[in-house]
Amino acid sequence: MACLAVLSALHAPAFAANPDAGAKIAAQGGSQGATACVSCHGSQGEGSANFPPLAGQPAGYLQRQLDTMANNQRKAPVMAPMAKALTAQEKADVAAYYASLALPVKPKQGALPTAKSSDGAWLVERGRWADGIPACAKCHGPGGAGVGLDFPAIGHLSASYMQAQVDAWKNQSRDAGPLGLMGSIAQKLTPQDIKDVAAYYQQLHSGSN
Ligand code: HEC
Ligand code: HEC
Repeated sequence: MACLAVLSALHAPAFAANPDAGAKIAAQGGSQGATACVSCHGSQGEGSANFPPLAGQPAGYLQRQLDTMANNQRKAPVMAPMAKALTAQEKADVAAYYASLALPVKPKQGALPTAKSSDGAWLVERGRWADGIPACAKCHGPGGAGVGLDFPAIGHLSASYMQAQVDAWKNQSRDAGPLGLMGSIAQKLTPQDIKDVAAYYQQLHSGSN
């Protein structure tokens, strides 16, 4: 994908990230007082209705979120103090750790819904070009499992968390992300679209691990 090459150029050569040090931060907290991540994000980063899953998200994505939450480009009142309390090395380490874990979903066996059979499937697989919305799968990959360093997995996010992020882009309280790609798509998504997309992805999964 052409945009992947552009985006990977955005990443400065990373200093060596240490996933084992990251596992320790997740379990015990950081050196400057950041709380143990497991207390909200789950023992394996699986998340819950109120706390987004971190396991299996790309390291570049996770690190960028920690940076933007720390500097308030992404307004996240609960996370901001913890993101601020992580050193650059700790952010890289904890991002590498969560990226190394498996996504907390199991793909369902058997026939999957097709683009013709539901609005959610259509939006995910084809987009809605009349409104300038590209297919989610183009950037978020098959099953919404994420692609490369920059495109997070979305197939397992709760509808309420997804809607909160779309609202945040609409009211500009979340940074628009690399090249402003997602910020501009979010402006065009209705609450019904998000419900449809979340319901479609849910059908692809047989539940959490
Ligand atoms: C007190 C609960 C709490 C703790 C502890 C916590 N988080 Fe969070 N985290 C949240 C909440 C709530 C959000 C959702 C923020 C939002 O968008 O409003 C979040 C979001 C995130 C995100 C963005 C996820 C995404 O999909 O964009 C990352 C990355 C993250 N947290 C990393 C961490 C790390 C690393 C730690 C440990 C150092 C940690 N969190 C500890 C509550 C917590
Ligand atoms: C042109 C590429 C592109 C397309 C198409 C796209 N996205 Fe995204 N999306 C992104 C990028 C890049 C990010 C990460 C933004 C950031 O770093 O903050 C993202 C992030 C997200 C997030 C936030 C994930 C989290 O954990 O907080 C959601 C939700 C999302 N996209 C939903 C969608 C939906 C639904 C569609 C289809 C209607 C879609 N996206 C189509 C590029 C895209």
